[in-house]
Amino acid sequence: MTTANPDFLKLQNNYLFADIARKVAAYKAAHPAQRVISLGIGDVTRPLPPAILAALHRAVEDMGEAALFRGYGPEQGYDFLRHRIIECDYATRGVRLGADEVFVSDGAKSDIGNFQELFAPNSRVAVTDPVYPVYVDSNAMAGRAGNLRGTVWDGIIYLPSTPDNDFVPEFPAVRPDIIYLCYPNNPTGAVLSRAALQAWVDYARRQNSVILYDSAYEAFITDPDVPHSIYELDGAQEVAVEFRSFSKTAGFTGLRCAYTVVPKALQISDGEGGKVSLNALWNRRQCTKYNGCPYIVQRAAEAVYSPQGQVEIKTIIAAYQKNAAQLRSAVSGMGLTVYGGLNAPYLWVSVPQGSDSWVFFDTLLQESALICTPGAGFGAAGEGYVRLTAFGAPQDTAEAIERLRRVC
Ligand code: MLT
Repeated sequence: MTTANPDFLKLQNNYLFADIARKVAAYKAAHPAQRVISLGIGDVTRPLPPAILAALHRAVEDMGEAALFRGYGPEQGYDFLRHRIIECDYATRGVRLGADEVFVSDGAKSDIGNFQELFAPNSRVAVTDPVYPVYVDSNAMAGRAGNLRGTVWDGIIYLPSTPDNDFVPEFPAVRPDIIYLCYPNNPTGAVLSRAALQAWVDYARRQNSVILYDSAYEAFITDPDVPHSIYELDGAQEVAVEFRSFSKTAGFTGLRCAYTVVPKALQISDGEGGKVSLNALWNRRQCTKYNGCPYIVQRAAEAVYSPQGQVEIKTIIAAYQKNAAQLRSAVSGMGLTVYGGLNAPYLWVSVPQGSDSWVFFDTLLQESALICTPGAGFGAAGEGYVRLTAFGAPQDTAEAIERLRRVC
């Protein structure tokens, strides 16, 4: 009989958000009349704005005309989009990169889950705790996480990010090959100052480690001392890969478009005394396993950078930021400690005394038809917290606050 990959069998049965969806489906089946409000998965609720929708329609029309029809596109993305990314997301911040250092894709989750394939199987992985589960699970699937002991993988280096260290993780005692950082952070909503992120870049350079930097939430940064891209820091192009997404910035969670920047300056060991370019390896991987993000979606992403697109997406982000501010002030008024929500769409909220994160999740669901994300699902250091998202419609956020008040 064919045998399953043993590393998959070491995983917990369900992916965190699948587990939550299952519990919510059971609740809805039992309470069909109850309107459930989600402050759970970070999914956007505002529709695509007009500039993006118009570009999408135009691109659909292109596909019906022989002269404009596109079949397979470049695996790395169309130049029209790669150039706009470089001009608008990097050149404007003083970062010099080439279009061939940008790889357009169908999502940051898949890119960040797949990127670990480029590293040796015995590479040591460091993650913050709490952590977006994809970083850990994808390495577990590759046999790089060791064994799961309770909620902790014995082969992973965990870097606690808690109120005790102001959510700034300390450097690990053991040298990691790969360091996953996500700022603005999912799930805590914490950010790193320019100085704190520079310290991580310097550390990675000293240790010859690679930083996989997830900046899917950079559009929510308001503090001028918080960098939007890791490449704003000196030397980062030699040590960091950056993952960006149109999902939370421009409402593309359903359309699917993201990009990964792999600078040519980033070289790692070939294991035989030489060096190899991660950009060349990722290109090789993508050409083999991926046929590119759809043309119509890339045209929609291009429209994000148009003057009208910029105005429209900033309006939507401002509405989500307003939700975050309202949630933050309401929840702290309920006597719960709240972090995040200032430069991020996520709020990290301590659960009431005597509860724990899954118990509080169940209480909110059963008593208020509210969905949150239990902190324990993000790692051991997430116990005692739940994550709330600010991506709801304003009226739902207001209603969620009322329901929270009744429980807390
Ligand atoms: C989250 O809720 O953590 C995110 O929406 C998940 C994701 O972006 O994949």
